[in-house]
Amino acid sequence: MRKALITGITGQDGSYLAELLVAKNYEVHGIVRRSSTTERTRIEHLLPFHPGGRRQVFLHYGDLANSGLIMQLIAEIRPDEVYNLGAQSHVRISFDVPEYSCDIAATGTLRVLEAIRAAGLTKKCRYYQASSSEMYGKVQEVPQTEMTKFWPRSPYACAKAFAYWATVNYRESYGMHASNGILFNHESPRRGETFVTRKITRAATRIKCGLQSELLLGNLDARRDWGYAKEYVEVMWLMLQQEQPDDFVVATNESNSVRDFCAEAFGLLGLDWKEFVRYDERYERPAEVDLLLGNPAKAKRILGWEPKVRFKELVKLMIEHDLKLAEREAELAEFYRRTGREDEQPN
Ligand code: NAP
Ligand code: GDD
Repeated sequence: MRKALITGITGQDGSYLAELLVAKNYEVHGIVRRSSTTERTRIEHLLPFHPGGRRQVFLHYGDLANSGLIMQLIAEIRPDEVYNLGAQSHVRISFDVPEYSCDIAATGTLRVLEAIRAAGLTKKCRYYQASSSEMYGKVQEVPQTEMTKFWPRSPYACAKAFAYWATVNYRESYGMHASNGILFNHESPRRGETFVTRKITRAATRIKCGLQSELLLGNLDARRDWGYAKEYVEVMWLMLQQEQPDDFVVATNESNSVRDFCAEAFGLLGLDWKEFVRYDERYERPAEVDLLLGNPAKAKRILGWEPKVRFKELVKLMIEHDLKLAEREAELAEFYRRTGREDEQPN
């Protein structure tokens, strides 16, 4: 049984990747942070105590800020594959907490790479780095490929550029099988609710169910290359199965604006987005990434991977999921209202 270690296992991508590796019969180890709630909604169904859960998933307390623990865990687990997905991944918030965002995304990556080296695993352990299209920032060519120059526009993107080069450096210096997946935005019903796509699908469906009256957004003109997260984690695995480590762009080669996303999402519910969306400058960023569009030709040629779920299908599957969620919330709210117990309603 091959062993994989995932940092960021509780996140959107970590949860889909854990599912994929469990299905491939890996022993899956994940690093989790202590928090005041023990809810791990995205991965609960995989844990041993859950009915139908699997005994092959193991969680370990740790933090990418804590090099001693990272070293200890990697030395103990001796993984065959490490997927480094952990990060403070919100670009806007990285302007509020720049030092922390860089400590986790940049130095955190170095901590993981060093821990692999210190454990004497450079020849045994394959490494995946969650690099980002944000590194292209003020784009120097359209579409972006593996050869396009980076021009990061946020503390998050600067940190990811460091992590990208650290990964290349460990590959070149120590012969490690270390690869970068330069993933363009990828979304799903598991997307965090403050990223723009999920913020829109949650709000549109809540508005449809009478739970919310408006949606506050920042820049509607920004364009992103949005794909489906569940498909994107397959590439992470494929990259580590290649004989040679390498770097790959993962994208759909189709770009839409935030405005387009609003129109599609509200339209699916029979609503006109212009009636509900209001501008709020708090959601603007000090420096914006205006356009991302990726060319995944190399991933297709070498890995045989290409995206299947396109923009409209992606919006539809997120809307369908969030509509069920909003309908349940509306039923619950109605129950508490009818029984006169509104203040007891759980958040
Ligand atoms: P996400 O949902 O925000 O998940 C981030 C994960 O990192 C969570 O498990 C989080 O744990 C963990 N984490 C945060 N700080 C940590 C720390 N100090 N120590 C250990 N773990 C920590 O992000 P995602 O969308 O799944 O993305 C996964 C990775 O791909 C990230 O590195 C992201 O930057 C990168 N990426 C994402 C996209 C995209 O479009 N989704 C595109 C390109 C690259 P908690 O649950 O405890 O917060
Ligand atoms: N989050 C958010 N909230 N974004 C908004 C809003 C809003 O209210 N209004 C407009 N936007 C715009 C942002 O200015 C940005 O241009 C675009 O919507 C997308 O924002 P996010 O969904 O927050 O994603 P991101 O592109 O900044 O970053 C995501 O993708 C990167 C890959 O390119 C994250 O997942 C990063 O971790 C990832 O690396």
